[in-house]
Parts: sequence; C-alpha cells; structure tokens
Amino acid sequence: MKRLRSFFLFIKIAFKISPSYFVLLILGGLLSSGQIVANVLLPKYLVDELVRLTNQKIIAPGYAFKFGDIFTAFSQVFLFGALIVLANLLFGFLDKTHKRLLDVKTSYVDKMFPGEMAKKIMAVNYQYLEDPYYLDLKERALFAQTNQSALRNLVNAFAMIIQETITIIALITIMLTLSVYLLIALLITIGLILLIRIYFKNYQVSFMRSLIPVNRRYGYYMSLGFNFPYAKDIRLYDASDLILDHVKKYNETIMKSFLKNYQKLGLMTGFIRIINALQSAIIYLYIAFRTLGIWGEKISLGSFTMYVNSALRFSGSVTRFFDQFVTVSQMLDYLEPFMEFMSLEDEAEKKGNHVLTKIDSIRFENVSFAYPKSDKLVLENISFSIKAGERISIVGLNGAGKTTLIKLLCRLYKPQQGTIYVNDIDIQEYDSESYRKQITAVFQDFQMFAYSIEDNVTGVEPKDQEKLMHIFKQVGIYDKVMSLPNQAKTPLNKTYDEEGTELSGGELQKLAIARALYKDASLVILDEPTSALDPLAEAEIYQQFNDLVHDKTAIYISHRMSSSVFCDRILIIDGGKAVDYDTHQNLMQKKESLYYKLFMAQAKNYQIENGLKLKEHAV
Ligand SMILES: Nc1ncnc2c1ncn2[C@@H]1O[C@H](COP(=O)(O)OP(=O)(O)OP(=O)(O)O)[C@@H](O)[C@H]1O
Ligand SMILES: [Mg+2]
Repeated sequence: MKRLRSFFLFIKIAFKISPSYFVLLILGGLLSSGQIVANVLLPKYLVDELVRLTNQKIIAPGYAFKFGDIFTAFSQVFLFGALIVLANLLFGFLDKTHKRLLDVKTSYVDKMFPGEMAKKIMAVNYQYLEDPYYLDLKERALFAQTNQSALRNLVNAFAMIIQETITIIALITIMLTLSVYLLIALLITIGLILLIRIYFKNYQVSFMRSLIPVNRRYGYYMSLGFNFPYAKDIRLYDASDLILDHVKKYNETIMKSFLKNYQKLGLMTGFIRIINALQSAIIYLYIAFRTLGIWGEKISLGSFTMYVNSALRFSGSVTRFFDQFVTVSQMLDYLEPFMEFMSLEDEAEKKGNHVLTKIDSIRFENVSFAYPKSDKLVLENISFSIKAGERISIVGLNGAGKTTLIKLLCRLYKPQQGTIYVNDIDIQEYDSESYRKQITAVFQDFQMFAYSIEDNVTGVEPKDQEKLMHIFKQVGIYDKVMSLPNQAKTPLNKTYDEEGTELSGGELQKLAIARALYKDASLVILDEPTSALDPLAEAEIYQQFNDLVHDKTAIYISHRMSSSVFCDRILIIDGGKAVDYDTHQNLMQKKESLYYKLFMAQAKNYQIENGLKLKEHAV
C-alpha cells in the first residue's frame, strides 16, 4: 500500500517535471508494438501468399519465363516483402531516435528530482525544518537519491515497464485469436521461471549478507599489511606469517562460498533452460497441430509463423516486465524517506481567503505556544497590540521567547492556543503569499546568497537604483559597496565567482538590514540587527532608525537596552510571559521591574567603561 502511494507520488512528480517524458514513454511502447506489426503480422501475409502461389503451381515445370506474368503473380509477395523491409527500416530508425531522446529526457527527469526536493524544502511548512526527525529524514532522502542511484533506476525501470506493458497487450491480443489455453500454458511456464528467479534472488541476498563478516575479517588482515603504522609491531612480533595465513584462509572461505553460489546459479540456469525448452515445445507442438487442423480450427502456414513468433516474444516480454517490476518495488523501498519528505505539507497549502494589502494593527490575544514534540510552553498567554506606524521593542533574557514570538507572527509556526490578529482578522486566514509580502524581517541567523549584492538586497522587488543607493547610505554600507570592483553588482563571496567579495559580519548585517528596508512591506522586524556592528555603526543606525523605518511599523529586538529608548513602547518577556508593556519613561519608574534592572545593569557597564576611558585619558 505504502509502495503504491510512493509509486503514484513518483509519477506525479515526474509528470510535473516533464509531461513530455510520458508522451515519449507511451511512444516507445507504441513503437515496440509497431515492430510487432513489422515482424509478426506482416510475415504472416507474406508466407500465406507464398503458400498460395506454391499451391497454384504458377511456376510449373517447363514454364516459359515471362517477366510480366511473374510480376503480376508475385505482386502481393513483393508488396508484403517491401512492406516488411520498409517497416523495419522505419521502425529501426524511429526506435533509435526515440531511444536517444528518451535517454536525454530520462537524464533530465532524474536530475530534476533533487531540484523538486530543493523546491519542497523551500516550500514546506517551516516547522518541519526545525524538527530533528525531519532533518534526519531529509538526510536519508538525499542519501537514497545520491548513493544508490535509486531515482535513476526507478525512472529507467518505469520506462521499460510502460514499453513492455504495451508490447504484452499487443501480443496477448494476437494470441487470444488462436487459443486461450496456449496463453494459460505459457503463463504457467513463465510463472515457474519467475518462481525460480525469485528463489535465486532471495538466495543471493542472503549469500551476499553472509559474506559481509568474512569480508570484513579479510579486509582487516589485508589492511594490516598495507598499513605503515603497524610495520614496527609486525616486525618485532614476526606477525607477517600469521597475517598472511589469515588472509589466505578467509580468501579461501570466500572462494568456496562463491563456488557454491555459482553451483546454484548453474542449477537455476539449467532449470530455466529446461522450462524454456518445454515452453518452446508446447508452442511449436500446439501451433503445428493447429496448422494441421488438429485441436481446433485449421490455421494457415502464415499464421503458424505469426503465432510462434508472438508466443516466443511474449515469454521474453513478461520476464523483462517482471524484472523491472522487482526493480521498481526495490527502488521504491530505498526511496521511502524521499517519498515521505516529498509528501509533507507545503506552506502554500494553508491558503486563506483574505488578501493582506497593508497592516493597520497587530494583536496577540492569549497566545500560548510550545514547539512540536515538546510540552514546555515557550510562550504563555501573551496578549498585546501594536498600531500601524508604532516602534515596538521586545526585551527579555536569552531564551525568553522573543524570537519564537516573531516566528509566530511570521506564520512560521501556529500558536496552540489564542489568536494573532492583523487588522482584526486571524492571521491564519490570510493568503500566505500576500501576508508574507507585508512583513520583512532580519533574523538573528539571517543568510545572504552568493549572488550579487544588488540582487541580494532587492530580491524579487523591482530594481530602483536611487532607492538602493539611498538605503546603502542609510545603513552605512554605501562607501564599502562603491569601493568594490563591480560595486553593487559584485557577488557576495567567491562560491561561484572569482570576482566575489567577502564582507565582514557587521557589513553583512548592514546588508541584511538594507534588504529588509528595501522590501515594500508595512511591518519591519529586526531581531538583534546590530549584534555584529561596531558601536559607531550601531549608534548611527539608532539615530537614523525613524528615518530608516520611515512609515512602516517596526518591531525591534535587542539586548542593547539603549536601543529601546527611541521605541514607542517596550514589551518585556520573562520566561515566556509578557510581564510589562509600556513606554521607556514609565518602565524606568518601576524600580523593581526586569526592564529597570537590565537597563541599569548595562548603564553601569557603560559608566564603568567611560570611567576607565576617562582614567586612561587622564594618565
Ligand atoms: N526549533 C525549536 N525547537 C524547540 N525548542 C526551541 C526551538 N527554538 C527555540 N526553542 C526554545 O524556545 C525557547 C525560546 O527561544 P527563543 O529563540 O524564542 O528565545 P529568545 O528570547 O529569542 O532568546 P535570545 O535572546 O537568545 O535570542 C528556548 O528555551 C529555546 O531553547
Ligand atoms: Mg532570539
């Protein structure tokens, strides 16, 4: 059942990658049926015609040769002969061309599968990507794809199955016009052959498995001889004879096992040969009898050739079909993790009916959240609201839940309890694309890509050089960008371009801020955006903050307490709970509050630092 589901998923993905691949597969099947017409059906008419002519005794002894007569009499023979040659030429040509095309296409489809997986990783519900089970599943899925060439084998086997299925249908249709009993007899002999093959295949799997421990021992002793670090001990303890004895002994064991295996292989091949011979005997005997009019309606000599040909081909086709079928099911087993990964739910599947065009208000109402597979509430009963245009700072100790709160707002996770509203509508009800468009964020662990600085910052938004340069100036990276060989067109890092540049952590952070500001969103979230910046750059960003964010709503998370001073309100998170939500002035009045303590602790540091500096200057 699981395999069947995997199989359909495989077909679905392959079809998405390339519908024309399936057209090629069907064409391949039709072509092989065409070859049956050329080599099974047409010869029947040719033979029948020849027999008719022989019976009419057109070429009687003493006949005076006249070209015209011969031509008229043999016109049908020539016609069928020519048709057979032409059809073979045509199908031969088409078959070769088709095989080349299919090879190219198969390779394309095979190579696009990892691409589909990458697409899945980018589209899948974000929560899977932080869950160890799914991270491991991703690794296993990749392993199956790359190490066992499972996908390539699957794609190939699938192509053969389609081809053989169409051939088998065509052959059965022909044989049914003769006798259903012959077909049944053939199926029984084919079944016997398959049983022997299955038996041998299973035997071989266990044979290979039984060799693993011997091979490992053999490998160990062999490696001793090649390993320099052992050389001293081997000499001192005169171990070389012992080692070589072991190598010889294990090698002989392996050889004996292989001999036994080959005996079995020989036996199997012998049995199969016998059954094959039996099969041919049944085919020839039955059809010959029918040609003589015994056991049923008499058939012509032409039909004899056709049926014999079909029956022999049928056996080969069914065996090949079965082999490929086994490969498909084996590969589907290997690919189980891949298929499981590919059937995870996508974010886009969470489509809401509402389209978000601008954020006017944000409201958390009794929001509680625990990460999947964990009972620990990271956020507990959080309620607060933000109006459009406000600057909000979130303050709390490490692990308090600040980033988690942002992840919920970005819809990377769903709260277990409570609701987050934007413009008084539950955020889950928005169409995810339009929702994401209105939000931009710089995360603590933001990433930049190896393409150009400009592309990194503008992303999919239209490129506006003036706006870009303005933002570069605002975040203090303009001079640096201009000093690069290709300015904003310089690629970030040298991954695939020698001309690339390596920026410092702080410079990258400035770019990340620039990227967040460039996007035309109505909410900007900055999670520790200045952690890597030097004090001067940081102070500059703070001073310009209002200018930077412009008319957007902003949420700002920082451990530098001085940054909250310019925010309208500060949300204090302590152990997952919202303990305060007020202005800087009001919070500073509460001398017992966490905010006051944090603020004063840092202020003290600054005072000490300043004090030290003053002392240094004094000296
Ligand atoms: N993907 C995750 N799976 C399980 N637990 C997580 C995950 N991410 C974070 N946590 C836990 O949730 C709690 C809150 O983490 P969060 O990242 O929200 O804290 P934070 O307030 O942003 O801290 P910091 O100031 O260090 O950035 C922590 O105890 C953390 O261990
Ligand atoms: Mg955080």
